[in-house]
Amino acid sequence: MTNQPAVEAALLSLLDLARKAAQHAYAPYSGFRVGAALRLASGQIVTGTNVENVSYGLTICAERSALVRAVSQFGPEIRIEAVAVANLNAAPSPPCGACRQVLSEFILPDAPVIFPAEDGPRTMPFRELFPAAFELKAK
Ligand code: THU
Repeated sequence: MTNQPAVEAALLSLLDLARKAAQHAYAPYSGFRVGAALRLASGQIVTGTNVENVSYGLTICAERSALVRAVSQFGPEIRIEAVAVANLNAAPSPPCGACRQVLSEFILPDAPVIFPAEDGPRTMPFRELFPAAFELKAK
């Protein structure tokens, strides 16, 4: 179920890939297993999962994990045209602030982001999810 009238089928299959990716999570400290799937403007799909660390702060989220994988595989010209986030804990989990900032460097402003909300998957255009990205404009 979704809380939107017509979530396009392509986005729902991206969400499925995010769920599958979450099965590879390394989350022994939080037990919170997250998966992310990015669809690139080239049509390629790249997934990622959270990888925790005993020092906690070195943990990488699923979204950033997918993003660094995408850049590593396809280079810095990639543009992200859709994002799906899922977790295996049936919990609401929009991308965290750090992931939004990192995504903002490669994502198209209108890209839909689908993530688990209280009442099912929710979709928002990235520009609404993260309206004021930091930009480096030195004078
Ligand atoms: N986590 C993500 O993978 N994505 C987010 O956007 C927020 C949090 C992970 C990090 C950590 O491994 C676990 O969820 C609990 O915070």
